[in-house]
Amino acid sequence: MATQDELKQQVAKAAVEYVKGGIIGVGTGSTANFFIDELAKVKSKIDGAVASSEATAQRLRAHGIEVFDLNSVDGMEIYVDGADEITEHMHMLKGGGGALTREKIVAACAKTFICICDASKYVPVLGKFPLPVEVLPMARSHVARELTKLGGQPKLRDFTTDNGNIILDVHGLEILNPVEMEAKINQIVGVVTNGLFAARPADVLLLATPEGVKTYKR
Ligand code: A5P
Repeated sequence: MATQDELKQQVAKAAVEYVKGGIIGVGTGSTANFFIDELAKVKSKIDGAVASSEATAQRLRAHGIEVFDLNSVDGMEIYVDGADEITEHMHMLKGGGGALTREKIVAACAKTFICICDASKYVPVLGKFPLPVEVLPMARSHVARELTKLGGQPKLRDFTTDNGNIILDVHGLEILNPVEMEAKINQIVGVVTNGLFAARPADVLLLATPEGVKTYKR
């Protein structure tokens, strides 16, 4: 039986099949790290990458992959990233690693979002994993009160984002309408963004299962 790391590696290998050249958008987290290691093996095929976090940029550079500023790039064919939860509708909950805002921005600039996950992330309803919300520090209490009104229990994470902000992890939400919830939370003054990727879902899901990597397309 494959370990979780082996499953992550399998799905990272499967994602490299989608790398045809140009500049690649790269996500953050342990599954994305496996992808970076696989991408390094085909680095002569690509011009470089755009990173969704400082940690990802560092790992890409350590492999000798050039990291471009998003503003110097005219879009990307693909963005490859993991998720904390994903549904059959390709709606995702992300931000366990705290990189949600940059992930959402880089993903928005890519034609195809390829989500790479092991089967434990595939869920019927989002929200069991606490929903990360990036917040400007001065708005912490206000945003926490508003999130409580939405039915969640926000908890401050001991963490500062790459953008110098805080994260509130919202527990106890059963997110039946992720598109609506994503918009509602983003409307709260002081919220930078939240970890629901529903308005712009994944286009391809590569799911590592004990029976092999399964591919789903939107
Ligand atoms: C990072 O901020 C997250 O959005 C990650 O994509 C997510 O937490 C998945 O991470 P793992 O691949 O480590 O599970």
